Amino acid sequence: MKLIGPFSQLISLDNLPIRGAIADSQLSIITDGGIVTNNGVIEKIGNFQTLKHEFPNAEIDWIKDTKIVLPAMVDCHTHICFGGNRANDFAMRNAGKTYLEIATSGGGIWSSVQHTRNASDEELLQLLLQRIDKLLHLGCTTIEIKSGYGLNLDSELKMLRVIQKAKKLTKATLVPTCLSAHLKPKDFEGSSKEYLQYILDEILPAVQSEKLADRVDIFIEKSAFQPEESHYFLLKAKEMGFQITVHADQFTPGSSRIAVEVGALSADHLEATSNGDIDFLAQSNTVAVALPGASIGLGEPFSPARKILDANGILAIATDWNPGSAPMGNLIAEASILATYQKLSTAEVWAGITFRAAKALNLEDRGVLAKGKKADFVVYNTDNFQNILYQQGELRPSMVYIDGNRLD
Ligand code: NIG
Ligand code: FE
Repeated sequence: MKLIGPFSQLISLDNLPIRGAIADSQLSIITDGGIVTNNGVIEKIGNFQTLKHEFPNAEIDWIKDTKIVLPAMVDCHTHICFGGNRANDFAMRNAGKTYLEIATSGGGIWSSVQHTRNASDEELLQLLLQRIDKLLHLGCTTIEIKSGYGLNLDSELKMLRVIQKAKKLTKATLVPTCLSAHLKPKDFEGSSKEYLQYILDEILPAVQSEKLADRVDIFIEKSAFQPEESHYFLLKAKEMGFQITVHADQFTPGSSRIAVEVGALSADHLEATSNGDIDFLAQSNTVAVALPGASIGLGEPFSPARKILDANGILAIATDWNPGSAPMGNLIAEASILATYQKLSTAEVWAGITFRAAKALNLEDRGVLAKGKKADFVVYNTDNFQNILYQQGELRPSMVYIDGNRLD
């Protein structure tokens, strides 16, 4: 048993709704707070002195100076397993070059595929671990990671095996997702429909038998996979027992509807979702995931987060960290920028990067500070939790706890 504190502000995010708008007045702030943990799980939160009397045998982890504590963040959408770098894509895009010009000069997703295929397992693992470490120190202790830069049996399995290896070497919780349906690779001889069938016949059975991932993603878009073939693919993947998530409505509308129809855990992107589809999504249990890093990286509109919340949807926010569209990988910076454009309350942002993001990963055991939840939290050296979003990513956690233990 361990008692951690005292914290000048403890924001538990407990008892907030899983869906819809949240006013900041709904946030409860415990001053002089403490957290009792037992075997990595929260036993109780409350006033530090009261807890000290209630748990006299607890070992005390003293918190010095003025510090505040919140649940650790969940980044529910990343592509951080990749080789190479696409800084030149970014520069060319900003200099006005078209998607086609960038692709023909050797950029785009295909360039990341080639670098990832050519990287050794060890190189890929080291790059992945560095990025996990960055996210961890920014306060994200649960990280979803997609394949999707291999795009053939060997290289997709290589990526997913590297993610499994990383799991053993990090304290973060890693959630792997098979995104073999990111794009039809240039060297696949056949139609995109045939490529999806190849994933169903060859890749997913191997992923399943090696227990490499239990989630499947697809990029539904004019330039990637079309609605009808995607719908069929997702139903088949679901029949095999996979949980579903979708890259939906990034540039053209329509695919978030498919995500809802197949019962996806989440529909991510949504920059182009129509008003009718916002309502359809918001009435479902599919989590709407906004990816402001992709809007910032591409200079595209932000996802309609405000409308989704006002329509009573479940809104999460994630980085989409990847070498192309979203190179930043700083969840707080991106979420606070989204908040300024979309007019999100502080409570809505924190819900979106903690327990609502955990729901997108089907994880019920984290994202709030409450009895029985995983003892993962972030501590900031400041006197007011509002300073975190206010400083737009510049205020970094001074400590991160995983399973009740301080990370080095
Ligand atoms: O989520 N939209 C498709 N896929 C990624 C981009 C991947 C890349 O550019 O490498 C995304 O933005
Ligand atoms: Fe993505």
